[in-house]
Amino acid sequence: MTDQELVKRAFEMHKFSYVPYSHFPVGAALLCGDGRVFTGCNVENAAYGSTICAERTAVVKAVSEGCREGWTAIANAGQGEDFCWPCGACRQMLYEFAPNLRVLAARGSGEFQVVPLSELLPHGFGPRSLQ
Ligand code: THU
Repeated sequence: MTDQELVKRAFEMHKFSYVPYSHFPVGAALLCGDGRVFTGCNVENAAYGSTICAERTAVVKAVSEGCREGWTAIANAGQGEDFCWPCGACRQMLYEFAPNLRVLAARGSGEFQVVPLSELLPHGFGPRSLQ
């Protein structure tokens, strides 16, 4: 799976985004070491704080299917002019399972940038911090 293909999978999730409030669809595609891809979209809620982002949807799908190791990359696709970087809560959630994950952030034009999660969340708090 190339980076471009992973980004494409993320964009394809826009059609499932439930975004009656923001009208801002986001799609995510999480690549695991065994080649499986877990996708996600944002799902909003009338109680706005209950909204879940596309990245966390993908994380929860992977973990709940027994895949919690060997993640190599996550693609995140927005539709705006800015690259769609994961929010703070999503960075934290990803850090739990894959502190060295590659993050591919795409904008509406389809262009994307790649940055390691360790740069997006330096000095993160993770499982080892509790030892
Ligand atoms: N959102 C995501 O799904 N992922 C991000 O990386 C940033 C924000 C969603 C949450 C909400 O449904 C909408 O985008 C606007 O904030």
